[in-house]
Amino acid sequence: MALVTYIDHKGGAYEAEIENGDTVMQGAVDNMIDGIVAECGGCCSCATCHCYVEPEWLDKTGKPGDVEKELLECVPEPKSNSRLSCQIIISDELDGLVVRLPQSQY
Ligand code: FES
Repeated sequence: MALVTYIDHKGGAYEAEIENGDTVMQGAVDNMIDGIVAECGGCCSCATCHCYVEPEWLDKTGKPGDVEKELLECVPEPKSNSRLSCQIIISDELDGLVVRLPQSQY
């Protein structure tokens, strides 16, 4: 279980408790947090679950896989800390994780 904070493009913060094995995307959808569209439902094919991982968490969230990397080339405003939130799987290690959500998904 991990508490994840989602910060919207205006600075509003929303928290969700997410079970281990679920994804950062699923946590947002289940808790009706705006800013993660997730059109493909987590199949890593839509890139509408884009988020920016706060730099201090990048070691723990890991690096994007090959398919994810390709999709991230298509998102508006990609950054070095861009991830697809459906590819970040929750574990106790991610308790306290903070992600920011891009304006383009509102
Ligand atoms: Fe579609 Fe993440 S939900 S790529």
